[in-house]
Amino acid sequence: MTDARASAKRVEVALGERSYPVMVDHGLLRRAGEWQSLVSAGGRVLVVTNEIVANWYLAPLLAGLRESATVLVLPDGESQKSMANVERVFAALAEARVTRDGTVVALGGGVIGDLAGFAAACWMRGIRFVQVPTTLLAMVDSAVGGKTGVNLPQGKNLVGAFHQPALVLADLATLDTLPDRELRAGCAEIIKYGAIGDAGFFAWLEANAARLLERDAAALAHAVATSVAQKARVVASDERESGVRALLNFGHTFGHALEQVAGFGTLLHGEAVAVGMLQAARMSAALGLADAADAERLATLLQRFGLPVAPPPGIDPESVLAAMTLDKKASRGALRFVLWQGIGRAMQVDDAPRDAVMAVLRTH
Ligand code: NAD
Ligand code: GLY
Repeated sequence: MTDARASAKRVEVALGERSYPVMVDHGLLRRAGEWQSLVSAGGRVLVVTNEIVANWYLAPLLAGLRESATVLVLPDGESQKSMANVERVFAALAEARVTRDGTVVALGGGVIGDLAGFAAACWMRGIRFVQVPTTLLAMVDSAVGGKTGVNLPQGKNLVGAFHQPALVLADLATLDTLPDRELRAGCAEIIKYGAIGDAGFFAWLEANAARLLERDAAALAHAVATSVAQKARVVASDERESGVRALLNFGHTFGHALEQVAGFGTLLHGEAVAVGMLQAARMSAALGLADAADAERLATLLQRFGLPVAPPPGIDPESVLAAMTLDKKASRGALRFVLWQGIGRAMQVDDAPRDAVMAVLRTH
């Protein structure tokens, strides 16, 4: 990470022969010379995107590709992360005669990345794919690490595959058009990296919140690259989440349950994670694992980013608890949580006392 421009960063996800670079820079899409030769392996290319993102960023991407590509533009929204759209991707791949040497390029946020990545994982038992994330959340989380999948009517992300991208191109300039609320939701995941494993980064976020919210290129580059570097380290040591990768779910057990009970779409994922992280921090304090002052520092930081620190009014704690027990991160009915010992020190607790969970849900 010694590039001349303050916004140019490169992080390697080290997974042996499946290793790949995450390129982070401002204006990357328009400088095709830096990535053109890395996108495809010579075969045919299918670009999957949505109608919002296509409007802004499809033309520069296509102009930069070495070969002509087929494009599939889907409607916008979480509801599009469906099996029906996986079939549409398959139909487009068949129509374009994409074979085993082909590449799927996902241009968009986490919805497009998860869906297109899953289709790439299945097509001919797995072909290359490239992530071009255009939301902050996708840059720091969903585009890196190889979790792909779609929702079923029975639940979110129930069908999926681990399938690593061959390249991630994160152009920070695409964030210029991202709505404020989506930007803040992405910041919640960035705060998570400080909270779980990097107290120094947490302090940097305390000092630089305003620069990030103003979309300062150098600040965004530092925040995205630091987050990606931490995710890359975790994924490299535990690709399939049999251990340390679970720590990335800090705030997610509370958050997923809250998202579900509030009704999907009421809270953005990052907003629910913000509330969930604070609940996890407060539960840690209540269990004597961490200092209560650390939870309050987290609350202050979340508020500085304009993120919620309490569930919306009218959320029934019993319903949240019931939703948690059904979460796919629950293990045989036991309540598994990622808690912390304070800022930068996350830990997994496999059998959290229900009383402690309910106490947090009732009071916060
Ligand atoms: P999203 O993909 O729905 O994007 C959010 C909104 O921003 C959409 O309306 C989208 O069209 C719009 N948008 C995207 N880029 C834009 C841009 N540059 N300018 C203007 N508008 C833009 O949502 P998301 O928050 O990126 O991702 C959420 C999804 O990611 C969920 O389905 C979640 O399950 C998944 N996810 C996956 C992982 C993983 O590890 N695979 C991790 C976290 C979340
Ligand atoms: N979003 C958590 C993970 O990728 O493991």
